[in-house]
Amino acid sequence: MTNKAIVYSSTLGKTRKIAKYVAKELKADSFDLKKQTVINLSEYTHIIFGTGIHGGKPYGAIVRFLNENKDQLTGKKITLFVSCKFDGEKGEAQIKKVSGELGISNAFFFPGKGEKNNEGMSASVDAFIKEMSRK
Ligand SMILES: Cc1cc2nc3c(=O)[nH]c(=O)nc-3n(C[C@H](O)[C@H](O)[C@H](O)COP(=O)(O)O)c2cc1C
Repeated sequence: MTNKAIVYSSTLGKTRKIAKYVAKELKADSFDLKKQTVINLSEYTHIIFGTGIHGGKPYGAIVRFLNENKDQLTGKKITLFVSCKFDGEKGEAQIKKVSGELGISNAFFFPGKGEKNNEGMSASVDAFIKEMSRK
């Protein structure tokens, strides 16, 4: 049984695609907050949250889930990824702000620009998977 879970919220499908790909590569379970908002995370040690961003704000489903599940998240390793449009300094500033607001210091962002591998994923997603599998 895997010890990683990916909990994600996607409006246009990009975050879902990334979450599914990361789950496949890490042999993690994934949960779509559109389909399920009550998730038992007791068997997982590392929870990876994924969200898109509108107007500088992560999706409400993620914010709500974090607020409503503080108890079951206590003591677990938590990581955030944001699929977004902004890259470079703008992207860095944005992820810093979102990471602060959500209280998740281990945060990554995927601007979705640039070259893609043959599964349509950017190098930053593959680098993220490598980093996650180390922990
Ligand atoms: C209305 C709207 C607002 C957006 N605002 C931002 C933003 O503030 N910052 C950003 O980096 N990307 C922004 N984006 C881009 C999306 O966050 C990006 O396409 C993301 O991958 C969408 O994820 P999803 O397909 O899982 O919903 C915006 C997109 C839309 C449609």
